[in-house]
Amino acid sequence: MLRKPFVGGNWKCNGSRKFINSITNTFNSEIPNIKKVDVCLAPPNIYLERLQNKLRPDWLISAQNCYKEPKGAYTGEISCEMLKDMNIDWVILGHSERRHKFNESSKLIGEKTKMAISKDMNVIFCLGEKLEQRQNGETKRVVVDQLQSLSGIKDWSKIVLAYEPVWAIGTGVVAKPYQAEEVHSFLRQWFAENVSKSVSDQLRIIYGGSVSPNNSVELIEKPNVDGFLVGGYSLKPGFIDIIKNVI
Ligand code: G3H
Repeated sequence: MLRKPFVGGNWKCNGSRKFINSITNTFNSEIPNIKKVDVCLAPPNIYLERLQNKLRPDWLISAQNCYKEPKGAYTGEISCEMLKDMNIDWVILGHSERRHKFNESSKLIGEKTKMAISKDMNVIFCLGEKLEQRQNGETKRVVVDQLQSLSGIKDWSKIVLAYEPVWAIGTGVVAKPYQAEEVHSFLRQWFAENVSKSVSDQLRIIYGGSVSPNNSVELIEKPNVDGFLVGGYSLKPGFIDIIKNVI
């Protein structure tokens, strides 16, 4: 296979020490052919170290955010240097909840992404349209606008692109496989035309938004769906079934 599948689990603002003790018992169980997929869990920052200590070493661990500066007077923020200091190599950026609930601009998200890459981190870069934008036929324009913040990036091997239509996040309304494929193939074509054929071929484009053990079976059959960014189900034993479905 050209691209190794990727399954991310975004815990958002959920979890506790007790929860980590119990879910890692499940997640650390034997999964046949686990080497064929990259699995990456993103707990709240305060639990990063605990998860590192409890979770199987063959899964990756990600932060859910970082700041664009290396250090300084930025109360409440954490930097990529701090994450690297904690041996965290991944960060989620551009998530719709950061864009829309915390009003993060595309400019800021682009600056954070460039900082993360400059510090040798890997980024799960999220993008996607709101329901009204889809209904107005603006989906492609919106995702291209969101990509513009990444102009100038040279090393695309450090990015996993997560297409997350806002209307599908946490709603139980999953994109139909053809809808996900339509946007993923559009994005891949955009990279072929605007970056390079080899980046387009190698970039992993994953889908997020109400992914479940059931609906992941058909979604992963689409040629340009390289995996998932999972919210709710990454807090449940069913996350393992989603992983098994992509292997
Ligand atoms: O980052 C994950 C996405 O926001 C999807 O969340 O699976 O709960 O819809 P969800």
